[in-house]
Amino acid sequence: MKKAGVIGWPIEHSRSPLIHGHWLKRYAIDGSYERIAVRPEEVAAFCGSLAERGMAGCNVTLPHKEAAFAAAAVRHPSAVAVGAANTMWLEGGKLHCANSDTYGFMTHLGNIAPGWSRTDAPVAILGAGGSSRAIIYGFLEAGVGEVRIFNRTAARAEELAAHFGTRVKVRDWRARAAGIADVSVLVNTTSLGMAKTGPLDIDLSGMRADGVVADIVYVPLETDLLRRARARGLVGVDGLGMLLHQGARAFQIWTGREADVAAMRAALEQYVYGKHA
Ligand code: ATR
Repeated sequence: MKKAGVIGWPIEHSRSPLIHGHWLKRYAIDGSYERIAVRPEEVAAFCGSLAERGMAGCNVTLPHKEAAFAAAAVRHPSAVAVGAANTMWLEGGKLHCANSDTYGFMTHLGNIAPGWSRTDAPVAILGAGGSSRAIIYGFLEAGVGEVRIFNRTAARAEELAAHFGTRVKVRDWRARAAGIADVSVLVNTTSLGMAKTGPLDIDLSGMRADGVVADIVYVPLETDLLRRARARGLVGVDGLGMLLHQGARAFQIWTGREADVAAMRAALEQYVYGKHA
């Protein structure tokens, strides 16, 4: 029996049990995937108890990604680059960690907007949290020459620039509309646009006609930002694809099976988002 799960605090909102549970069933794997509420002060102890709990591994969500990274004995390059982990597993008796957020975002972007990297234009990222870090790393790995960060709190953006080097430039949050005029891709990594937060206020009218707008928010599936981008004829890339691809990578680590992202997406769109084909 393969046991896995997701830790976070709070954890009720996580969609991962639904996704992994569906894949376990679909591939007839004798296993379980649970939501596990872990308090911040208990993360290190939890990480040390995976074997005892009979778990093959687990996903890690907010606010534990840095603590999980610190607790692992073997840190894979994807986690080292970001300084945070979202996937842990036991291998050879040791606790390994990786970060599949970068893979999740870049895979979905490449699928929906394969032409995004055809120009040598800069890209722009709104926000400077953990997701921003993972996405900055993805663009730098893909060879982008300039990654612009716009964040309400400039000091957090400055930290990211110091971490990643001179290709990352900090720009004024208030000047975001003017700062996206020449970019190939704009990514929202802030929590603005989620069902319960306020909308993201950014004027897209200056963007290039071949620009791509991505949002990591996945509730709602079509955020106000994506709706406005699509209305202008820009390609919109939603946050659900990133969630599914990062999950598929974790699933493969634990079970050795490749998961069908497209089928999972169709099921979620129908049953969770209520979108009818
Ligand atoms: P994650 O790790 O998921 O990226 P996070 O670390 O909480 O989450 O980061 C949330 C991001 O949303 C931050 O960039 C935050 O900006 P600050 O660094 O200034 O806090 C941004 N954010 C949240 N609420 C915002 C708001 N009302 N206006 C602008 N930015 C906001």
